[in-house]
Amino acid sequence: SQYQYIKTETRGRVAIVTLNRPKALNALCTPLMTELNTALKAFDQDANIGAMVLTGSEKAFAAGADIKEMSTLNFVDNFKNNFIEDWTGVTKIRKPIIAAVNGFALGGGCELAMMCDLIYAGDRAKFGQPEIKLGIIPGAGGTQRFTQAVGKAKAMHMVLTGDMMTAAEAESAGLVAKVYPADQLLETAIKNAETIAGYSLPSVMMAKELVDASFEMPLAQGLLFERRLFHALFATKDQKEGMAAFAEKRAPKFTHE
Ligand code: HXC
Repeated sequence: SQYQYIKTETRGRVAIVTLNRPKALNALCTPLMTELNTALKAFDQDANIGAMVLTGSEKAFAAGADIKEMSTLNFVDNFKNNFIEDWTGVTKIRKPIIAAVNGFALGGGCELAMMCDLIYAGDRAKFGQPEIKLGIIPGAGGTQRFTQAVGKAKAMHMVLTGDMMTAAEAESAGLVAKVYPADQLLETAIKNAETIAGYSLPSVMMAKELVDASFEMPLAQGLLFERRLFHALFATKDQKEGMAAFAEKRAPKFTHE
């Protein structure tokens, strides 16, 4: 493989990226993040891929940014190098990414999962933003995306105490879309990704773009953007095919154009 810290495979139109740094519970060192960005970008540009699944191991999705690597950093270098900025590469991917989280998703690991479009969790998963215990704070969305997902009360509790949240708590708080038995998580996530990848890619990409836009836009602008893209999708062959297939009581054959 061309990668040291991740593994990649494809199943039909689904790409699976597995964080693979088991000795450090998938701590997100810089070379790992570089590889991850490279792999996700390549799949984003691959016409044969319609959705991606990002996962870790049974023990850990990722236990955070690499504490040993960070321990000697200083402010001026962080500032000049814009430390962590490259992580935003994940949020620039235009096809859907499902995070399948087993085990620990802590600190930067939780933030990485939240950069994905939806999170499915194994029933023994644990989420947390424990940075406060290290004398720092979350740096890649833990104070922002977490708060948007679960609201102020739970976000404040998690960010200020560093406590962990179980999968069941994360689901009821709205961080996680669904919880599955740990040993069925990855297969189910891939199955759901196959379902998504089977739909017309332009409609899937626009749906993702619009849900994300709802966090950035006032409601009237968001609704207008939605209506315009809704109008636009009637220019695709897949819209004609999807509606013809319904009328003819058969499965649609989307060609993603
Ligand atoms: C570097 C890490 C690591 C991390 C675990 N390891 N987490 N190394 N960075 N974030 C390493 C350990 O040092 C150890 O290596 C090996 O992985 C196994 O970990 P253990 O601690 O022995 O396992 P366990 O006792 O099962 O405890 C699991 C754990 C604990 C509760 C997840 O490892 C832990 O608390 N990790 C740190 C979690 C954390 O604080 N994350 C936030 C990081 S800050 P050795 O060599 O000793 O065997 C952050 C900032 C983000 O993410 C900022 C923006 C991106």
